[in-house]
Amino acid sequence: MMNFKSITFFVVFLSCLLVSKAEKVEVVVEGATSIAQTDEDFICVTLDWWPTNKCDYDQCPWGQAGLFNLDLKNKILEKAVKAFHPLRIRVGGSLQDQVVYNVRNNIENCQPFQKQDKGFLFGFSIGCLDMKRWDELNEFFNQTRAKVTFGLNALIGRKESETEKTLWVGDWYSHNARDLMSYTISKGYTIDSYELGNELCGVGVSARIEAKQYAKDMATLKNLVKEMYPNPKTQPKILGPGGFYDKKWFDTFLDASGHDVIDGVTHHIYNLGPGNNPDVVRRVQDPFFLTQIAQTFKDVSNAIVKFAPWSGAWVSESGGAYNSGGQLVSYTFAFGFWYLDQLGMTSVYNHKVYCRQALTGGNYALLNTTTFVPNPDYYGALLWHRVMGSKVLSATHKGSPYLRVYSHCAKKEPGVSFVFINLSKNTSFEIDLFHDLNLNGGSPNFEFKGHKKREEYHLTPKDGNILSSIVLLNGTPLELSDSLEIPELKPKLVDGLKPISIAAHSIAFVTIRDFNAPACS
Ligand SMILES: *[C@@H]1O[C@H](CO)[C@@H](O)[C@H](O)[C@H]1NC(C)=O
Ligand SMILES: *[C@@H]1O[C@H](CO)[C@@H](O)[C@H](O)[C@H]1NC(C)=O
Ligand SMILES: *[C@@H]1O[C@H](CO)[C@@H](O)[C@H](O)[C@H]1NC(C)=O
Ligand SMILES: *[C@@H]1O[C@H](CO)[C@@H](O)[C@H](O)[C@H]1NC(C)=O
Repeated sequence: MMNFKSITFFVVFLSCLLVSKAEKVEVVVEGATSIAQTDEDFICVTLDWWPTNKCDYDQCPWGQAGLFNLDLKNKILEKAVKAFHPLRIRVGGSLQDQVVYNVRNNIENCQPFQKQDKGFLFGFSIGCLDMKRWDELNEFFNQTRAKVTFGLNALIGRKESETEKTLWVGDWYSHNARDLMSYTISKGYTIDSYELGNELCGVGVSARIEAKQYAKDMATLKNLVKEMYPNPKTQPKILGPGGFYDKKWFDTFLDASGHDVIDGVTHHIYNLGPGNNPDVVRRVQDPFFLTQIAQTFKDVSNAIVKFAPWSGAWVSESGGAYNSGGQLVSYTFAFGFWYLDQLGMTSVYNHKVYCRQALTGGNYALLNTTTFVPNPDYYGALLWHRVMGSKVLSATHKGSPYLRVYSHCAKKEPGVSFVFINLSKNTSFEIDLFHDLNLNGGSPNFEFKGHKKREEYHLTPKDGNILSSIVLLNGTPLELSDSLEIPELKPKLVDGLKPISIAAHSIAFVTIRDFNAPACS
């Protein structure tokens, strides 16, 4: 008679047999030319203005993470940002259109936002930024070598329309922004780009502005930046409109904006629904759901080709699930299925930068809002930044839709890098690579056999639980060292002749140094 132990063993053995049936997949990479190009610093994170008393669904998940409260001296925060060398940080969010800058010290009682019952957007009063806090923020950006996008208040100077609720009319009042720029320049602070407004395009969220008016204000901002920063080499870029894509509004806006005015066309992504929706967990594992939003990336990219080819597309804010992120899922391994897939798709559709909401704050924080300890997506972002270069290659396969593949030239030459995302909980994949040189005359693909060792980074959740907030790299948990250093992210070296094996419910970055794609040399 079998005892309990041996029965357990037998059952485990049987299920291993069932699970170990790996699916073979042939991935074809077109190495002759790149299909798109991102900025060198594609990975970007946001810092938001939300105060401690911003609450959603009986939770107040911002804590001290807002820009007025953030502990800028925290060692983990500093090391986490520095590790990117550089990390793009976009400063903005819903309340940015209620921030005034107290440059001349003439605002009486200069205070952060106060909670209000009504009569104010998002239930908060105007927030006043004094130059002491602006100095502290810039000291932090300088010390951590961050590349900063600053989101300017775009509602200042306008009035709510008398006839149409939520519509704001009149010209943007640029003087407060001018004062801030003048102060910023006098202190020697570097700003990479200025973005005008947050979620005021299309139908808006709390308020909206008409497309032609917005185009006119972008021109005002461009002229201001040109005047304040006459050296074209160090002139900050200007970005807008920083809201949800709406075809008619974007087309009108881009068509009305002048030649060379807008450098980055920014839009926001919250495609997973509200943060308290229990379906968010299922959605991040559903390839058909994940793919739907590709149409938006394609549309923005096409609108730029048509109306503003001198600019590039940016996702300037994306938290996936709105109202502060998915309560069960946004800080766990599973969110990486959605996040890394977003990075892959936006790269394919020629986006330059992708800003994740948020570096810290809310449930979608890359760094835990109270402890600053990195969540799984922090490591996903860092690996992407280090492994995936700016040139994007076509990589396709005819296998299971649960396997998602993206390929770029390697960040550091030579070779090609991949990210494989296995959404399936019960299938692993064995991948054979084919190189399609796509030469005229249709030369056939050939199977690629590597002779050098491959660099592989396999990410899996702790205990196989995709809702864990601990991620393993090649089987070892990623944890801060005793001295609070971000762990080194070391690849394992794998025989180049073997197929690439991707476990169920896992994400892998792979660099192949001897894959000679002409597009990458
Ligand atoms: C930090 O500040 C110093 C001194 O003003 C400046 O030389 C340096 O370029 C700044 N670094 C960054 C990344 O802005
Ligand atoms: C942040 O860390 C604290 C302390 O470990 C933990 O209780 C909390 O659940 C974490 N929050 C998130 C959103 O991960
Ligand atoms: C395997 O997982 C996929 C989705 O993850 C599911 O659609 C399928 O039914 C599962 N198959 C089995 C045999 O469990
Ligand atoms: C994806 O994961 C499933 C199990 O979750 C596994 O069976 C399959 O082989 C994996 N696919 C790849 C390409 O590794």
